[in-house]
Amino acid sequence: MKVTYYGHSCFGVEVKGKHLLFDPFISYNPLAKGVKIDEIKADYIFLSHAHQDHVADAEAIAKRTGAVLISNFEICMYFAKKGIDKFRPINTGGGFSTKAFRVQSVIAQHSSSFEDGVYGGDAGGFVISSEEGNFYYAGDTALTYDMKLIGEGNTLSFALLPVGDNFTMGCTDAIKAAEFVKCNNIIGMHYDTFDLIKIDKEKTTEAFEKAGKKITFLEIGETKEF
Ligand code: NI
Ligand code: MN
Repeated sequence: MKVTYYGHSCFGVEVKGKHLLFDPFISYNPLAKGVKIDEIKADYIFLSHAHQDHVADAEAIAKRTGAVLISNFEICMYFAKKGIDKFRPINTGGGFSTKAFRVQSVIAQHSSSFEDGVYGGDAGGFVISSEEGNFYYAGDTALTYDMKLIGEGNTLSFALLPVGDNFTMGCTDAIKAAEFVKCNNIIGMHYDTFDLIKIDKEKTTEAFEKAGKKITFLEIGETKEF
């Protein structure tokens, strides 16, 4: 599967010719100035929770592309009020299949409210399964023992995990999370965007290596096959 990094926790993943976009936060991200937001392809937009650094560009991209918004009920309703008419609400544990993939909503340990104070439901993550492989998009989360269920139920090609500490798990817990989900091929996210989540990428890479795992930090705008 082709993975493109748009900065912070925003990724595009191509699955069976469909473009899946996760947590678009680009126009307010000073590190993502080089990303041409109007050229980002999306057939589906996944939103893990309501925080601004995960949903800021969802409305504009959904309206331009006509992509289907996939998120919890509260977040779907929030965007429905803004004129988004293509959405699919799911809640923790639930999922559904399209022709290209199946998505399941999984637990994240985090909060979820919109910038204007509107309740954003429960924060979550997504497991995507397809004929091309399976992957886990963790969203913002602490390490949780429930991640073991993801490892028991899925063979993952790669997992996108937050490593920035402060608001989510940091390096040590992310290594544990990789163990829990039984995946040695990790893509790092939710780091460096703000001062509070600046990390030492070299040290993080070394720590993963010591644990027998690989973490990739994609350049913003970079596309790589996983
Ligand atoms: Ni958050
Ligand atoms: Mn966040």
